[in-house]
Amino acid sequence: MMKLGGLFHPTGNHIAAWLSPDSQLDAGSNFQHYVKLAKTAEAARFDLLFLADAAAVRGGDLAALSRWPQYMAYFEPTTLLAGIAAMTQHIGLVATATTSYNEPYNIARRYASLDHISAGRAGWNVVTSSNLDESMNFGRDEHFSHETRYERAREFVGVVRGLWDSWEDDAFIRDRESGVYFRPDSLHTLDHRGTHFSVRGPLNIARPPQGHPVIAQAGSSNDGMELAAETAEIVFTAQHTLEKAKAFYDDLKSRMSRYGRQPEQLKIMPGLNPVIGSTREEAKQRHAELQAMIQPEVGLELLSNALGGFDLRGYDLDGPLPGTISAENTNTSKSTVQSVLDMANRENLTIRQLYQKMAGARGQRTIIGTPVDIADEMEAWFRAEAVDGFLVQPAVLPGDLDVFAATVVPELQRRGLFRTKYEGATLRENLGLTRPANRFTKAGSQ
Ligand SMILES: Cc1cc2nc3c(=O)[nH]c(=O)nc-3n(C[C@H](O)[C@H](O)[C@H](O)COP(=O)(O)O)c2cc1C
Repeated sequence: MMKLGGLFHPTGNHIAAWLSPDSQLDAGSNFQHYVKLAKTAEAARFDLLFLADAAAVRGGDLAALSRWPQYMAYFEPTTLLAGIAAMTQHIGLVATATTSYNEPYNIARRYASLDHISAGRAGWNVVTSSNLDESMNFGRDEHFSHETRYERAREFVGVVRGLWDSWEDDAFIRDRESGVYFRPDSLHTLDHRGTHFSVRGPLNIARPPQGHPVIAQAGSSNDGMELAAETAEIVFTAQHTLEKAKAFYDDLKSRMSRYGRQPEQLKIMPGLNPVIGSTREEAKQRHAELQAMIQPEVGLELLSNALGGFDLRGYDLDGPLPGTISAENTNTSKSTVQSVLDMANRENLTIRQLYQKMAGARGQRTIIGTPVDIADEMEAWFRAEAVDGFLVQPAVLPGDLDVFAATVVPELQRRGLFRTKYEGATLRENLGLTRPANRFTKAGSQ
């Protein structure tokens, strides 16, 4: 079965979503808006909802930024997910937390708590941070180098997983008769001393219901793929052609054997930005309307961000990108820069055409068509074993999620490609992932 996640940027994935009368204008600080999205996605049997994050407002040209709400007024996502957990029962709850500007103990504790609060539905999207401005909120003048970020991320994830094993599953016997609350021999101290972190442990919360909350990863550079091959159970990635998606899928899954892992232990879910109409004409028209709302200065700012902060002001918008931009020289997301450059080359786009394309879908693949067209494309990629599922990023929220849930999901279900009821109780079970054994227990604790 195909896996489905929803990435819900507050007013929607389209950069001009907030200008649409159909969007929830104050979405970034409106809790009920997210509850509604979660309930819709849950009724449609989505595996998970995912909230991206950055611990900084975006830097850049303030006049342009003031026309774009993303990350300007934005909930801390694990706090938000804890609230959503209380209002839902099945849907997985995945949020980003950066390994560059956190400590492993805090993250282990936060996601273990979310896993308990949601009864086994938590997931952690491990990022190394693509927003350079985060560094300035955490005692640094500049971002760690790409290499250091990934080295730190690898150690960070190892520590977090070790901390989640602090307690055996049955440690808390809470026996009033004997007066013993927990079994002392079920408590394990990690005693980690590494390059970036020293963490004694143990964690002050019982082992999470899933053993470990599910680990997602969204960096697609070589370093990112290596980290994912070793540790990730879900990978979010931007893929635009079936050929590239298949190559990425095969490459990443083949790397897993180096870490003693099976391909089924990782679900690869590229982003998908569906623009749906009851006819193709209607879908095209809707897309054109959305694109027409993009404010040029915002589009340019987003493109400049995606290219690692390259200042494009002053260049001819109807000419090509300057040839000096390269993914290798960037300290932000190498895979994002590469994906934008590939898109510009593949389709021979001017700067204006490129920002319109980028800004509309925020770098993700767009499919414009009827529900059947969209299901056809999804089915083709799935049957080609280029994906395990998709991360659906509706253009305007809440309306475009409602439409996807009411039209594309039943079409996928009719074709036998997507579930009609949840298989398990936890995110891990619904994704078909095994529950990790406790490293401190000989046979592993299940
Ligand atoms: C679907 C998707 C979601 C992402 N979410 C975040 C996020 O929430 N925060 C963040 O800093 N980076 C996010 N990223 C970027 C990557 O996680 C990563 O930090 C960045 O791409 C740098 O890694 P790379 O050079 O290996 O690609 C996301 C990427 C994708 C494709």
